[in-house]
Amino acid sequence: MRKPFVAGNWKMNTDSQTGVQLAERIAAGSVEAAGRTVTVAVCPPFVYLQAVTRALASSSIAVGAQDMYSEPDGAFTGEISSSMLKDVGCTYCLCGHSERRHVIGETDELINKKVTAAINGGLLPILCVGELLSEREASRTNDVVTRQLEEGLAALGDEKLSAVTIAYEPVWAIGTGITATPDQAQEVHDFIRKLIGRMYGDQLAAEIRILYGGSVKPGNAAELMGCEDIDGLLVGGASLKGDDFLAIIQAAV
Ligand code: PGA
Repeated sequence: MRKPFVAGNWKMNTDSQTGVQLAERIAAGSVEAAGRTVTVAVCPPFVYLQAVTRALASSSIAVGAQDMYSEPDGAFTGEISSSMLKDVGCTYCLCGHSERRHVIGETDELINKKVTAAINGGLLPILCVGELLSEREASRTNDVVTRQLEEGLAALGDEKLSAVTIAYEPVWAIGTGITATPDQAQEVHDFIRKLIGRMYGDQLAAEIRILYGGSVKPGNAAELMGCEDIDGLLVGGASLKGDDFLAIIQAAV
């Protein structure tokens, strides 16, 4: 049985006060669900990680980073390592989010190094994959997702794969208000699980959690969670509103 997983990606939003308030609101409202029946995590900006982990210390809500660097330490101005994230209480780290791929220009090779470094540093990576609208329209969704997974997971053995969560986030659905229909999402999730099965065997494919992300809202969360291969939700905009995020967690219970 795969435990549902709801993660909030705050992106470059909040400040030291509103970030802590949001974390406290989520902790207060999700006492029942979080930890026992649903894994819940929030991913604040780096500079608020410590304040948010403190605010969530007595809750079962985990904290993740939105990115990290692939090297453990050294002369990498502006970068943050896995051990620094561990040090401030992070459990998870997003790797290869579409905005890092398409705005910042990260390659599959770099994302693979980050996934590997996250696991080596004791973090649980959430590897994000997904196609552009032009790629979907050219019927290339499966090819794109295959490349992103094969290259993103390259050289990762079975044991390391168990640390990984996958998030399927079609780029055309992120922040646009356009959600993939449950059928569209399920089709890709099923494809991803079968691909993981070919790469790692049926057992690991059955165990790995595959989240859907892209304009998830309280109004569509339950329907998406009703799909067989959708194990959770990666939420951007709606995770910035405490009540909306709580409603989404509730839909995953
Ligand atoms: P969105 O973002 O929910 O605002 O579409 C999702 C994401 O980028 O993870």
